Amino acid sequence: MAATLLPTLSPAVSRAAAAFLLLRRGPAKSLPSTLRHFVASVSSSSPATPSPAIRPPSTVASSSTVARATHARRDLLMLGIETSCDDTAAAVVRGDGEILSQVVSSQADLLARYGGVAPKMAEEAHALVIDQVVQKALDDAKLSGSDLSAVAVTVGPGLSLCLRVGVHKARQVAKSFGLPIVGVHHMEAHALVSRLVNKDLDFPFLALLISGGHNLLVLAHSLGQYVQLGTTIDDAIGEAYDKTARWLGLDMRKGGGPALEELALDGDPDAVKFRVPMRQHKDCNFSYAGLKTQVRLAIESKNLSTDDIPISSASEEDRQSRANIAASFQRVAVLHLEERCQRAVEWALKIEPSIKYFVVSGGVASNKYVRTRLNQVAENNRLQLVSPPPSLCTDNVLHRRHDCLDWD
Ligand code: KG4
Ligand code: ZN
Repeated sequence: MAATLLPTLSPAVSRAAAAFLLLRRGPAKSLPSTLRHFVASVSSSSPATPSPAIRPPSTVASSSTVARATHARRDLLMLGIETSCDDTAAAVVRGDGEILSQVVSSQADLLARYGGVAPKMAEEAHALVIDQVVQKALDDAKLSGSDLSAVAVTVGPGLSLCLRVGVHKARQVAKSFGLPIVGVHHMEAHALVSRLVNKDLDFPFLALLISGGHNLLVLAHSLGQYVQLGTTIDDAIGEAYDKTARWLGLDMRKGGGPALEELALDGDPDAVKFRVPMRQHKDCNFSYAGLKTQVRLAIESKNLSTDDIPISSASEEDRQSRANIAASFQRVAVLHLEERCQRAVEWALKIEPSIKYFVVSGGVASNKYVRTRLNQVAENNRLQLVSPPPSLCTDNVLHRRHDCLDWD
């Protein structure tokens, strides 16, 4: 990632999509030229519409060259491996962006049991299933290792013990079949995965990346060239969703964020008056630690015994109080996003007036309320919101369908 983008190295929940995108730094130098072309093109515009912004006129291809390149791209087959936190994921993607398979083995039960990710246990869980996950990804794509062109693997940020399992497996596959390895930056993948689903999405664009460990506002100039406009000064929004969900006694097996989003539907978003963070700071940074404290105090002041009584056993009145807190938290957490994004759009348009797209990605971007509110920010500024489907924002929706331990 460019030196201007400096994500913190806090834990991040893994996601299969992180492994779909290939970066051109590091090993790219040693890639064969067709593969180098693919590495750049997966994240660049559709071949039929070469962008003058990223390709000088002398290199714009003729239609026959484009047709050959498209064909060559289709022939390239990438295996992606992702083990940055608590899920083990693998996918096979064709050079033109078609996803042939994606497999996720969830550690949701471990997460619910221990209330968070225990790195050593997560590492062991990855080691237990990584071979099966990769094999299933190849089987689902009806391929074997010898059909592959390269192996992509998330190299960070994430838990180092966990990342190591994925990198080890990637090396093993690469060695067995004589393939190059491409290191993938977790957050860059969150930003660029949008280009798999929206082929028109071209640089430059503004991206908001919201996950369990990161809150980033980034101006993407071109592949590998990013300017960070804002980051969190403490917690990320996903962490605030997860903690609030836990404190409200929600079922963490479906993920804190989704559980809280569901409960908030039944609550009054104006019932509890939480303060919107950082209004006095006229920048694009975020803060969620103070909002977490406000939530904790609200729960205590209402005498909700959420630690002992899960929401499934709560009285109707108690459940309504929890729903009100959930809805009020969500309104303010997202309002904070809206305010910082509005300022970031203004900053970004001053730097790059040609921006047309506002990308929103990362696990929290699968939240419907978040998408609706940020779509409004985009429309107010005549930008188009691009947000990947939830299955490419986060792993969560795939958990139960691909639980390794249930495979026969
Ligand atoms: O991007 P991601 O899968 O992994 C990281 O890189 O962290 O994001 C995971 C985060 C978790 O905090 C999870 O609770 C949150 O995304 N999340 C949601 C929703 N789905 C996932 N937060 C709010 N609403 C959702 N529907
Ligand atoms: Zn992530």
